[in-house]
Amino acid sequence: MKQKWEIQNPGGMNRVIVTARLIGSRWLKILTDAGCRVEVYQSGSPASRNEIDDALGQSCDGVIGQLKENWNRELLTRLKTAKGRVYSNCAVGYNNVDMASATELGIPVGNTPGVLTQATAELAVALAFAVARRIPEADAIVRGDRFSGWHLDLLLGDLFGRRTLGVVGAGRIGSAFAKMMVEGHRMNLIYFGRKMNERLETSLAAWNKYLTATDEQPVSFRRAETLEELLKESDVVSLHTALNESTHHLIDGSKLALMKKNAILINVSRGPVIDERALVEHCRRNPEFRAGLDVYEDEPALKPGLRELPNVVLLPHIGSATFWTREAMSTIAARNVAAVLSGYPVWKGEDVEIFLGEDPPKAVPSIVNAKELGL
Ligand code: DGY
Repeated sequence: MKQKWEIQNPGGMNRVIVTARLIGSRWLKILTDAGCRVEVYQSGSPASRNEIDDALGQSCDGVIGQLKENWNRELLTRLKTAKGRVYSNCAVGYNNVDMASATELGIPVGNTPGVLTQATAELAVALAFAVARRIPEADAIVRGDRFSGWHLDLLLGDLFGRRTLGVVGAGRIGSAFAKMMVEGHRMNLIYFGRKMNERLETSLAAWNKYLTATDEQPVSFRRAETLEELLKESDVVSLHTALNESTHHLIDGSKLALMKKNAILINVSRGPVIDERALVEHCRRNPEFRAGLDVYEDEPALKPGLRELPNVVLLPHIGSATFWTREAMSTIAARNVAAVLSGYPVWKGEDVEIFLGEDPPKAVPSIVNAKELGL
């Protein structure tokens, strides 16, 4: 019978378990070059809670895990008991990790920011177009042999140009998405975030200079004072916030009611940012309202009724799913673990792409609780 955990570099001095096969081969070389014995779960889906528990054994120095796993206090304590010194998600999000417990137990938690910004923002653009131009319905017509030739009124959709885009959470991904839609499709922008995004505003101001110089009408952009204001004014609302207590059900029934009846809502962040039951109800009552979702409240399950709605486009959490991106995420996760086990300090720079090169800094690319742990 095939072994569930494949062992690489069996003589390595630090034992690292990897709960799902990662992408490409660079990540494995990083770990083995750093002297790790690497045990990789071999099945198509990530290891179960019990399998992880068994694999941790008496001694495990580090783990690379997946978003689907619940790294709660119990599992983190188990890692600590096995003398674990680092955990890294192979993802930028880390809402599957009990950060307070990790910090209390002294376990650094790594993530993979930056390298998935472009891919996730591009997917949000694709989803927005799929909704506005009714791409899934169009595809189904052709495949279903229902295409009877060009019709003036076949699948009429929406234009984005000069309409208002509301971006909720203007961090890396939100602002990359905003720039794609404003610069590429001439949308006007309202964004909502904790503070003004100076870099985004400077870049859009420069864009306006270009538009003016080429006799095009400039776009407008501003930070909203309140989420409510953004929801009321936007034609397209796109969610890019991290999931935490303050963003859980940020978009609930009362917020949906503020939106335009024919607005488009896009979510590529985390499912529980939307109250999915309220969204189903809202889409039922407002057939002109449309949504594009890549993430779900009880992923991979959908709330009753969502699957049947004709005004919703559904994707299976593929925001970062390009080969380059997933290979880069795997590389950064491996560097997080290898570098902590090598005793390197945490990188203070913003850009972690430098860690994709052959000769990266001797530092740990990204530890979420570095400040709390004094690293
Ligand atoms: C993340 O990294 O948090 C994404 O949701 C998966 O790409």
